[in-house]
Amino acid sequence: MRDIRHDSAITAFQQKRGRDAATFFVPFLIPGMRLLDIGCGPGTITAALAEIVGTAIGVDIDPDAIASARQLAAHAGPARPCFVEADMTALPFDDDAFDAVFFHAVLYHQSQAKLANALAEARRVLRPGGVLGTRDADVGGNILHPELDGVRLALDLWQRWYEHDDREALRFGRWQSSVLRAHGFTPVWAGASYVNHSADAVSRAEAVADARQSLLGLGPQLVGKALATPDEIEAALAGWDAWGRDPDAVYFRCRCECVARK
Ligand SMILES: C[S@@+](CC[C@H](N)C(=O)[O-])C[C@H]1O[C@@H](n2cnc3c(N)ncnc32)[C@H](O)[C@@H]1O
Repeated sequence: MRDIRHDSAITAFQQKRGRDAATFFVPFLIPGMRLLDIGCGPGTITAALAEIVGTAIGVDIDPDAIASARQLAAHAGPARPCFVEADMTALPFDDDAFDAVFFHAVLYHQSQAKLANALAEARRVLRPGGVLGTRDADVGGNILHPELDGVRLALDLWQRWYEHDDREALRFGRWQSSVLRAHGFTPVWAGASYVNHSADAVSRAEAVADARQSLLGLGPQLVGKALATPDEIEAALAGWDAWGRDPDAVYFRCRCECVARK
């Protein structure tokens, strides 16, 4: 079953991610490790991590994600990642099978029950002393300029969508360390970094295109669930267009990071 709150328009954005999303985790990895990337999406991060450790397996519940990840693997270098369709709450691997486990943008919009099951499974397949890396959003750290009403509204619409049954889902980043500790891991490092959507005119234009695609995709669902009005969707689209016309506009999205040991 698909993650019902997953925004499929995000897929194009995920495909642009690579090693930069896991930079914080790299100092904890060494060649020869077996690594599991849980909720791997299109597999770009898994492929980048495979180049470091040698053996990386990506799992995802979405068969379309696994299909595109396998296409990517077919063109990868010698450290070819491998992809398996699986539910993170019932992983098809033996106990202690991995030296490293990674979650990127997966845990923050899970229910408490699913989060507990996923972390229990991650802990089961990680060997004693093995290392876990997590990186997730925290809307409290985002930097936006100019703060146009329409863009603020767009950010609020996404928040309404992702938080409609968990009011704090998008502030998950700051709690990663305590969540991991509560689920039996020992946090050893914490930090944060930014996804840059405004490095130059090209990335600003991409940010506007991604925002438009996301709002147009989510719009009917937001309206259907009475989380937004059609006028609000229009105002949010107009806001991003105006933001994109400002050559000095910035949008840096905060990602919190944590490394823990079993
Ligand atoms: C926001 S995407 C992140 C993808 C990738 N980690 C990245 O950052 O590019 C979240 C991913 O988690 C996957 N997912 C959601 N629930 C899952 C579950 N129960 N088991 C495995 N994967 C799951 C979704 O299919 C989706 O590909």
